Amino acid sequence: MKLKDTGLTVQDIKDKASKYMIETYERFDFLAETAEGMYIYDENGTPYLDFYAGIAVNNAGSRNPKVVAAVHDQVDDVMHTFNYPYTIPQALLAEKVCTTLGMDKIFYQNSGTEANEAMIKMARKYGIEKYGPNKYHIVTAKMGFHGRTFGAMSATGQPGNGCQVGFGPMTYGFSYAPYNDLEAFKNACTENTIAIMIEPVQGEGGVNPATKEFMQGLRKFCDEQGMLLLLDEVQTGWCRTGAVMSYMNYDVKPDIVSMAKGLGGGMPIGAICATSEVAKAFSAGSHGTTFGGHPVSCAAALAEVEELLDKDLAGNAKKMGDYFCEKLEKLPHVKEVRHQGLLVGVEFDDTIGGVDVKHGCLDRKMLITAIGPHTIRMVPPLIVSAEECDKAFEIILDTVKSLM
Ligand SMILES: Cc1ncc(COP(=O)(O)O)c(C=O)c1O
Repeated sequence: MKLKDTGLTVQDIKDKASKYMIETYERFDFLAETAEGMYIYDENGTPYLDFYAGIAVNNAGSRNPKVVAAVHDQVDDVMHTFNYPYTIPQALLAEKVCTTLGMDKIFYQNSGTEANEAMIKMARKYGIEKYGPNKYHIVTAKMGFHGRTFGAMSATGQPGNGCQVGFGPMTYGFSYAPYNDLEAFKNACTENTIAIMIEPVQGEGGVNPATKEFMQGLRKFCDEQGMLLLLDEVQTGWCRTGAVMSYMNYDVKPDIVSMAKGLGGGMPIGAICATSEVAKAFSAGSHGTTFGGHPVSCAAALAEVEELLDKDLAGNAKKMGDYFCEKLEKLPHVKEVRHQGLLVGVEFDDTIGGVDVKHGCLDRKMLITAIGPHTIRMVPPLIVSAEECDKAFEIILDTVKSLM
């Protein structure tokens, strides 16, 4: 929709949003009217350099032409059927994802939090059926983030964090251990623990990559204990971290992995992939969703995955992530630059506020997010070039200087 076709002003749109919408988001104060590749444009055609990609979503670029064409084609054929008939995009995407990831089975959902619900439910059911009714306990990481529905929210190891406060008791059956602390994770497990669940890189928690020792140690411990390793790759998945999935950076394989965001190329989709052994926990009637596996989202995801792989955007994420972060290290007042591929966090010292940097960048027509008092996160589309990284660096540098 274009503003000029509505007869309205930007202020009219803002007024309607604040009058009728339940606003839980801190908005970027501009109207996103069109988007392409590395840029979002307002109603005047002013470009905004996109270093947040709808929060790690538009991995092959906004409105990637192949994704757009796949959506158009599928809309012309069939849009919604529920999961009773077979549909072509579902089956083709299932094959592509499973063979690419080396996993056996996929179950489709609509979002990251739902994918994590499915992962938690599958692990619990597997544990209870195999070992008995008490085998449902899951250990997750402090400062993790798994979503905003009750299971995923309860798995989120941030008691007292805004996302849990005011919602009453969390779901029973989770314990939390400090990230990257293998011994603490081992100690948090009990005879009732069926799984350990972590993000390979904590995104919302401040861009903290798992160490190799931690990830491989968890895999070994889970194998020894007959427990499952569940990886939440909602933010890290689909080439963002320099490998197709972040677990490939660690030479481990999860029993179940969740994904969403970057899988759909801008269309809503979530999924879990599991080994055949664990996937058996789900059978007719035990789990389901009206929209999960939507043909249009699956068609978009298939086109997105093909683009990501054909163009080796994991390779570009690795190359550009290293290039960009080497530059970011030179920013004034930087305490630490943390990244895996193009999941990038820059932590400043106490004198520079993350939100101030975000606002300064927005004033300079660049889009980033702040995650914590002094940290900014950047997750650009994986098509980003060295020139665009240079431009982003100059904008951040200029912003930080203005705050000194
Ligand atoms: C690691 C991780 N898991 C789960 C979620 C929730 O995904 P969604 O917002 O699609 O429900 C997010 C969202 O930021 C995430 O980063």
